[in-house]
Amino acid sequence: MPLLSSKIILNNALQKNYLVGAFNVNNLELFKAVISTAEKEASPVIIQVSLGAIKYAGIDFLQAIVQTAEKTSTVNFALHLDHGKTFEDCVNAINHGFTSVMIDGSSLTFNDNVSLTKKVVDYAHKFNVSVEGEIGTIAGIEDNVNVIDENSLYTNSDEAIKFAKLTGVDSLAIAIGTKHGAFKFAGEPNLKVGIAKEIHYKLPNLPLVLHGASNVPDYLVEKINKYGGKLKKAKGVPESIITSLIGTGICKINIDSDLRIAFTATIREYLFNNPECIDPREYLGVAMTEVQNLVSHKICLFNLLKNK
Ligand code: G3H
Ligand code: 13P
Ligand code: ZN
Repeated sequence: MPLLSSKIILNNALQKNYLVGAFNVNNLELFKAVISTAEKEASPVIIQVSLGAIKYAGIDFLQAIVQTAEKTSTVNFALHLDHGKTFEDCVNAINHGFTSVMIDGSSLTFNDNVSLTKKVVDYAHKFNVSVEGEIGTIAGIEDNVNVIDENSLYTNSDEAIKFAKLTGVDSLAIAIGTKHGAFKFAGEPNLKVGIAKEIHYKLPNLPLVLHGASNVPDYLVEKINKYGGKLKKAKGVPESIITSLIGTGICKINIDSDLRIAFTATIREYLFNNPECIDPREYLGVAMTEVQNLVSHKICLFNLLKNK
């Protein structure tokens, strides 16, 4: 099936009351694990690639992998740039077949964020590419996303509505208290879902995006720690919170850390139990299977209230 823009995928989710997983991939194994699972579950999916992933794998290689899958894929999927920082990042992605881009101007002033985002929207829409903006800052530490907690801001709903109207974005990432990475909460999670509901009430057709949505499953953290890793006090977003988002306007759920954790836990366990193994196909193969199981579980969760 041809790649779709994430606007089409997300608008459908908004109308039919379900969530769409946006999974970060960096390599062939993660990509194949996600797309094969979406096919097995007959579910649309968003494949997203960060600037760090582009630096690691090369945008031409990533494009070739996706185009190859496009020829045989049985599900609708979008190829999305995650956390683009500049206009040029977005143009580069569009030139390489991305059907959706995020321009993350959340660290800029409101006015500068509006100008940059609007510039990207005007350009991207000429190519039917959809644009995700961000208002409010999502904390956490990743390669290219590095925000210390003190700067972590909850999105102001009035500002978000103004931002969406001024820029014409197709979807909007908002900060409701999640963080990127495996260490999201020191105590109990305190997510302000009311922010999403307020925006959704005023802009019911605008898909909202939750970054930092990984669950960081205990069984995988325990496995990492058991087989030599050190992930103490890792904590993610409980699944009950994720399902409670259905109907709040949030319909794109960004997941990266869970895939990393599943992949790494499985490889650690496999190599511990098979010390003679030197064939990457063996441990990458079992890691892919674990990622497939995780993605499959998430897709079922995201579709819980889907209206057919
Ligand atoms: O939101 C950030 C994503 O998890 C991407 O992380 O920049 O390390 O690829 P990365
Ligand atoms: P996690 O670190 O919770 O997986 O969030 C990923 C993300 O928001 C990618 O943009
Ligand atoms: Zn993010």
